[in-house]
Amino acid sequence: MSAKLIDGKAVAEKVMSEVARGVERLKKEKKIIPGLAAVLVGDNEASKIYVRNKRIACEKVGIYSTQELLPGTASEEELLGLIDNLNKDPMIHGILVQLPLPSSMTNGNPSGMNVQKILSEVAPEKDVDGFHPINLGKLFSGMPDMVPCTPAGIIKLLESINFDFNGKEAVIVGRSNIVGKPIALLLMQRHATVTICHSQTKNLSEKVKRGDLVVAALGKPALIQEDWIKPGAVVIDVGMNRLPNGKLVGDVDPKAASKASFITPVPGGVGPMTIAMLLSNTLEAARRQSS
Ligand code: GUN
Repeated sequence: MSAKLIDGKAVAEKVMSEVARGVERLKKEKKIIPGLAAVLVGDNEASKIYVRNKRIACEKVGIYSTQELLPGTASEEELLGLIDNLNKDPMIHGILVQLPLPSSMTNGNPSGMNVQKILSEVAPEKDVDGFHPINLGKLFSGMPDMVPCTPAGIIKLLESINFDFNGKEAVIVGRSNIVGKPIALLLMQRHATVTICHSQTKNLSEKVKRGDLVVAALGKPALIQEDWIKPGAVVIDVGMNRLPNGKLVGDVDPKAASKASFITPVPGGVGPMTIAMLLSNTLEAARRQSS
């Protein structure tokens, strides 16, 4: 068997043209232009590229966007003050704080207390990343509202191939707040049986072999091997690992395509969906703030 590629670019373009139409309607009916502010602290090269790509995507669909840049030496107070100003800015309907924050701000723990404090400062109605505890709590309790963009994009990709979630074994590799935990909740809600694995999981290959669906989001190049994949499984590769030679590779060995029924490419799979869902959340936030 050779897997069909799930074309994330094509699905993302469909979402983006729907967003563009929605933006047009909002402008016409309510005289409102949705606005997104991206906050970038420090000079993480990958983050700079993500923020630039988000700005370009906003331009394509008619969303107004600003980039708020703080030096890596900025204090927590400065960042909280900036977020506060954006919360009050009527031109801005969505705010995202690009992660990871510099380790000077997080005491080296990328999901620790300080990060949670900063993410909690974003007004929940402007939290287009879905990282505020109120939005995460809604997701946890089965009433998803602003859903984190990458997991929301993965669900759209699975819907695009008519994946039947009910009763399927879903194995998630990675337990981050951004991907692993929220995708687990979304899959459970759709009645999949979910296993979450992580860096300390024993016999990882045995667990991955159970998966009708494998979501790889650990950030380790080509960790998931061809012979770990159950024949016919659907494989979603969230990894975006830059090798020393500059090549971008996922968390799944591309040879896994010989076992899977569907697989997402890297690049061109999950990545474009994250941005498309961010735009979709921004439009939704602007709609709500205008009514
Ligand atoms: N860093 C990696 N993924 C994301 C994301 O979805 N949102 C933000 N804000 N930062 C990220």
